[in-house]
Amino acid sequence: MAGIVQEVTELVITVLFDEDLPKINELIEVQNEQKSKLLVDSIDKNGIVYGLNVRSDVTIVRGQEVKRLNEPPQVPVGEQIIGRVLGPFGDPLDGLAPLSDQIKRDKIIKLPNQSTSFKPPKIEILETGIKVIDFFTPFVKGRKIGIIGGAGVGKTVLTMELINNVAKIDRGLAMFCGIGERIREGHELWETLKENDLLRNTAMFLAETNENPIQRSLVGMTSATVAEYFRDELGKDVLFFADNMYRYVQAKNELSSILNQVPNEGGYGSTLFSDIKILEDRLSSNDKGSITSVQTIYIPADDITDPAVSLIQNEMDSVIVLSRKVAEQGIRPAVDLNLTSSSLLTPEIVGERHYLLSVEVQSLLKKYQSLKNIVAIIGESELSPKDRSDFQKALKLINNFTHHMNVMTKLTGLKGDYFTREQTLKSIEEILI
Ligand SMILES: Nc1ncnc2c1ncn2[C@@H]1O[C@H](COP(=O)(O)OP(=O)(O)O)[C@@H](O)[C@H]1O
Ligand SMILES: [Mg+2]
Repeated sequence: MAGIVQEVTELVITVLFDEDLPKINELIEVQNEQKSKLLVDSIDKNGIVYGLNVRSDVTIVRGQEVKRLNEPPQVPVGEQIIGRVLGPFGDPLDGLAPLSDQIKRDKIIKLPNQSTSFKPPKIEILETGIKVIDFFTPFVKGRKIGIIGGAGVGKTVLTMELINNVAKIDRGLAMFCGIGERIREGHELWETLKENDLLRNTAMFLAETNENPIQRSLVGMTSATVAEYFRDELGKDVLFFADNMYRYVQAKNELSSILNQVPNEGGYGSTLFSDIKILEDRLSSNDKGSITSVQTIYIPADDITDPAVSLIQNEMDSVIVLSRKVAEQGIRPAVDLNLTSSSLLTPEIVGERHYLLSVEVQSLLKKYQSLKNIVAIIGESELSPKDRSDFQKALKLINNFTHHMNVMTKLTGLKGDYFTREQTLKSIEEILI
C-alpha cells in the first residue's frame, strides 16, 4: 500500500499512510514524473508523514501516490569520488558521469559510533608553511582548527591556502565540504586544486547558498560519512576542510522554522547543541585512521558571543580569530593574535623550544596592547627604554606573521610564501633576542 500526498508546501510534503509506515530518515518516493524523493522527517500519531522535498521539486501535487523505498539516503564512496565535485547524495556537480553505487554507505544520518575521546597516540604536527598558524595554532593530526570571523575577513582564502599547502604533500585524502557559501567559491577552489595538481587526492562535496536548507544541512553529514569510510575501511588519514560550519547551523535552523519547531535561546532551534555535537563527534579519529579538520565559522553581525559560534568553537582544539580591525590595517591574514588560542601549545606537543617562545610572544603581545594606548597619547619616545624595545619587538612580530598566499598569486601578482616550522621559530627567535 502506498501513501497519498495530502498537503504541499515548498519544502514540506505531508503524506497519509494507512499502514506500513516508513521510518524516520528513510526516503520515500512520489509517483510523479520526476520520482521526487522525500526524506521522512517525522510521523504523527495519525500516520501523517512529514517528508522533506529534498530537491525542491515543484511537480508534487495533492493526491499523488507515494511509495516506500525502504532505504535511507545513500552516498557512493571509495576511490571513485576522488577528483569529483558532488552534491549531498553523491550526485555529480561537475558535469561528469554519475558514480557507481556498487560501493556506497547509507549511514548518512546517524549517531557517532565510537568513543570520541580517542586521540592518535603518536603526536604528529603537520606543517602548513603559514607562520601564524604553525606558531599559534599548530596543525596536529586528528585535531580540529576553527577559523572564525565575520564576513569578508579572509576565512575562505586562508582555508584554500591551507588546502593548497597541506594537501600537496601526499598525506592521504583531502575532502572539502562547502556549506551554504558563495557558489563561485566552489568553482574557484576546484580551479586552484586543478592548477596545483591536487585533484588527484581531493574530493569536494557542496551545497552552497543556492541549495535548499535540506541539502545544506545534509552535506556536512554526507562528507562525514565519506570521511568515516576512508578512515575505517581504508585506514586513511583524512584532511577535512569545511566552509562554513555556521551555515550548517543556519540551515538546520531554517528547517526547524519551516517545520514550525519553536526556537529557544538566541533564536536558535532547540536542537542546536545536539546538531553540532553529533556532526563534530563524527569528525574524529580512531585506531584505524584519523580525521583532521579545519572548519570556518562565520560570526553573524561580528558578534563573537553568538551561542552557535560559541558551541562550534568549543569543539575546536585551536581557534584562529580573523578580525575586521586587523584587516583594515592591511595585515594579511587578518589574525587577531590576542584572541587566537590553542590547547595544543604544550611542551609535550610542540616541544619545549616552541612552547617557551609562544609564552614569550604572547606576553609581549599583551604588553603591546596596553603600550599601544599609551603611545597613542604620549608618543613612543616617552616610553622607558625597555618598554620601547618591547614595543618595537611586538611590531616586528606582528609584521613577521603576515603571509603572502599562494592561492592569491594570480590576483595580487605576489609570489606566495612557505616557511618551514624551523624557519618560523628561527624568525621569531631573531626578533626576540
Ligand atoms: N590573505 C589575503 N591576501 C589578500 N587578499 C585577501 C586575503 N584574504 C582575504 N583577502 C581578500 O578579502 C576577500 C574576502 O576574503 P574571504 O576569504 O572570501 O572572506 P570570508 O571567507 O571570511 O568571507 C577576498 O576575496 C580577497 O580579496
Ligand atoms: Mg568565505
